Amino acid sequence: MIIAPSLLASDYTRFGKEVERAAKAGADWLHLDIMDGHFVPNISFGPAVVAAIRPLTEMFFDVHLMCSRPEILLEPFARAGADEVIVHVELGEQVTPLLWKIKSLGKKAGLAVNPPTAIALAQPHLEHIDLLLVMTVNPVLGGQEFIYECLPKIQQAEAWRREKKLSYRVSVDGGVNFQTAAECARAGADTFVAGTSLFSARSLKAAVKKMRKIVNAHDPALADLKV
Ligand code: DX5
Ligand code: ZN
Repeated sequence: MIIAPSLLASDYTRFGKEVERAAKAGADWLHLDIMDGHFVPNISFGPAVVAAIRPLTEMFFDVHLMCSRPEILLEPFARAGADEVIVHVELGEQVTPLLWKIKSLGKKAGLAVNPPTAIALAQPHLEHIDLLLVMTVNPVLGGQEFIYECLPKIQQAEAWRREKKLSYRVSVDGGVNFQTAAECARAGADTFVAGTSLFSARSLKAAVKKMRKIVNAHDPALADLKV
């Protein structure tokens, strides 16, 4: 099980320190939300910021591109130190060449599916991805409510993986807290992106430890444990 704090929820006045804090807290990956103000009505940060924080940690950089023209960004983020690049299935015909390009850059390739989008759209790409990201909020901001209607999509993603004997990770992103992380783990997720629930906790270290315990146990009852 992978715990991936989302830097979008961190204190921007001390970005580098927040990266180091996540690493010291025992996080496995760092989730980096890249918003272009077009695919989603918000702008976050670019390759230069990723390059600046890369030397601060060995953590795996999970770069989530919420961008309408990711083809112009793949090489800059690969050079900046991304380990995985996620593009959205809503980009339609562009998806196949994008996944190949990410792989040709020696990076892991992820595919994200927004809440209103049928998970079936991801099916043609399953053999070519390392991670299938079921968005559990509509991408634009951190701190939104988890959309429970997305749980069956996690189950479907896990079922395809099992039936087709594939090895992609099943990730969830958006409104993931101690309660919803347990629900997602029970539905078949193994990679948990969480922003607000981790970075706003009194102790990031205790919060990461608690979320790991919960998802490993798939037991919602553990959600009442004090941090
Ligand atoms: C939303 C982003 C998420 C977000 C998660 O558009 O893709 O990664 O930062 O933050 P929380 O956990 O606060 O919903
Ligand atoms: Zn994200």
